[in-house]
Amino acid sequence: MTKGFIFDLDGVIVDTAKYHYLAWKKLANELGFEFTKEQNELFKGVSRKRCLDILLNDIGKIEHTQKQFDTWMITKNEDYLEYIEKMDESEILPDVPKVLAFLKENDVPIALGSASKNAQPILEKVGLLHYFDTIVDGNNVTKAKPDPEVFLLAAKQLGVKSNDCVVFEDAVAGVEAANTAQMISIGIGDENVLSEAKYNFTDFTQISTDFITTLIEN
Ligand code: BG6
Ligand code: MG
Repeated sequence: MTKGFIFDLDGVIVDTAKYHYLAWKKLANELGFEFTKEQNELFKGVSRKRCLDILLNDIGKIEHTQKQFDTWMITKNEDYLEYIEKMDESEILPDVPKVLAFLKENDVPIALGSASKNAQPILEKVGLLHYFDTIVDGNNVTKAKPDPEVFLLAAKQLGVKSNDCVVFEDAVAGVEAANTAQMISIGIGDENVLSEAKYNFTDFTQISTDFITTLIEN
């Protein structure tokens, strides 16, 4: 029986939430309103389009045309990409390479399951792309988390049954997607926020290779 391991990207492998925040804040400020770190929490795991929807309609209450919406989608991403451009391996979250290397040594198939359309360049920048057997990201799916599409497609591409997959997630929507896909969900972050996850850890430094071995074997 083969197990497959699926990693979310933003907030699990790298802390890019801060860059998403700065880019959304810049846009909000240009449009004349504030955007707080607390509000940014709502954007975790959420597609770019849906984030802009929330920013304009729920937070800023800004009337706009479709053309403006499309322009602001591009503006935000251009600003985000300026931060990404400067990323290197120092931005990998603690012990992520250790877990990826351990899985590789044990011939466990590894996938990325992310909502981001910038996933591949980010993995290249931080030098982790080679660990991944397949990448499913915002370019490959039509339904955003909490829909399980991204993880089901990742399992399919790995050739592993969905209930033999383990998912690492930092977003509530991502944990819900993994649970709906009948995968083993592991919450990375605040366990009070990610209370629906099967297992919870604050970060990868808390995850032992013994625990990973148990996941692989059971
Ligand atoms: C998710 C992030 O991984 O990707 C969200 O948690 C982000 O905050 C989403 O909005 C889409 O990212 P991108 O890079 O396609 O704008
Ligand atoms: Mg995430």
